[in-house]
Amino acid sequence: MASKPTITQVENAFFPAKEITDADRFAGRTRPVEDCYYALISEGTNIAIIGNRGIGKSSLSRQVINISTGNNELLAKVGLDVDEKLDFLPIYFACGKSISTHQELLEKLLTNKDCLSDWSYDIPKARKSLEKYQPKFNIGITSLGGEKATETAVKTSQPDHDVETVFTNVVSAIIEQKMAKNGLLFVIDEFDQIQNKTGFASFLKALATNVPGVKFCIVGVAHDIQELMKEHASSDRLFAGGIIHLPAMDNDELKEIIRGAEASINDFIRFDDNATNKVINLAQGHPYMVHLIGKYALRMAYRNGDTYISATDIEHTLAEIAESGTDPVLEGRYKKAVASSRQREVVLKALAEVQAGELEIHTAEAYKKAIDNGVDNPSQFVGHLVTDDYGAEIVKIRERYYRFKDSLFVAYLNARPSIFKETS
Ligand SMILES: Nc1ncnc2c1ncn2[C@@H]1O[C@H](COP(=O)(O)OP(=O)(O)OP(=O)(O)O)[C@@H](O)[C@H]1O
Ligand SMILES: [Mg+2]
Repeated sequence: MASKPTITQVENAFFPAKEITDADRFAGRTRPVEDCYYALISEGTNIAIIGNRGIGKSSLSRQVINISTGNNELLAKVGLDVDEKLDFLPIYFACGKSISTHQELLEKLLTNKDCLSDWSYDIPKARKSLEKYQPKFNIGITSLGGEKATETAVKTSQPDHDVETVFTNVVSAIIEQKMAKNGLLFVIDEFDQIQNKTGFASFLKALATNVPGVKFCIVGVAHDIQELMKEHASSDRLFAGGIIHLPAMDNDELKEIIRGAEASINDFIRFDDNATNKVINLAQGHPYMVHLIGKYALRMAYRNGDTYISATDIEHTLAEIAESGTDPVLEGRYKKAVASSRQREVVLKALAEVQAGELEIHTAEAYKKAIDNGVDNPSQFVGHLVTDDYGAEIVKIRERYYRFKDSLFVAYLNARPSIFKETS
């Protein structure tokens, strides 16, 4: 009999709120991992990791950092036999909503303690360059707890150099020190959050010419590199060979996540075959959904003293996740779309059901499902669902064809039990 895991082990067997840092819990993704490696060793190639929400972009970018610093564990796991160890100096930054231009991004990279700030301090040449930018740099420091008066005084004086020049100089000074054989690697997560990306591609291009040995890995929700960069002309070549599209995970990869979680608690609690398949089907390729459902199913089983999780247990878990608003963002979007209408909920679910199997939703198919479930005029509700009032979760592609904007939300819609009871 396997030894009983602690409650902490059980709680951390799945981790929906955290990207994967360790190679041993990183499931599947053989091809993307290989592609990342090739892009890392190709001179002049920047990396772009793109894909849907919750598909595993940040996790892959963490692996890129591991590999870039000589940890070849994952490469061995995916069967890429590599004898040399890479030696980059990696800098990770997640954009968030506050960054509106690439200049602001560069400024954050320069002044954030976890980014370049500490390195620059130790290298005189870099420090000098940064001091030329002192006014702005100071704002970063004083605004932490400084007085208002100094802040305004500082803001009025113009920096001697623009942020692009300072960034280039600082980076170049750090590279001259040869602290890391392969140079600097900037991993910029949630790049899609930057509202105005104009000029970033040209900046990258100039940087590549002036300072060899700098690589960017940008990560974000997008369908292609043009959408992520919002610049058509020059981005292609900068990322040639380095564009990693993360597709939905296949069933075996999703299963590996479940088996890995079980192993982490010594197989003390297991998902039976039906439960495993149910979770995999519900996830629709999103590792996030496996972690979300898996975590709460395990918690419930542990609390009840069960050693097996069945498909019925998964049903209960889904109800629990919905009721307690475990994922407040997805649940909030669900509530916003449904609002107070049973009929709109039926239509929303009918659309999601059709979307799960196809790239586009043909309304005829969805309408039929909705009518069968007692909705008189489904088109009216589809009309609602494209508007901002109901979250604009779907878009019209052309006459009679619609699409959900976010596949993770589709998976949530299909997994979540209805608020209103079925009448049929
Ligand atoms: N290869 C993998 N193996 C196991 N779990 C994974 C894998 N990739 C991602 N996950 C898990 O899936 C969840 C979502 O992953 P991650 O945060 O990396 O996705 P994302 O695409 O960055 O999401 P978002 O769009 O919200 O930023 C996390 O719980 C993460 O641990
Ligand atoms: Mg992410």
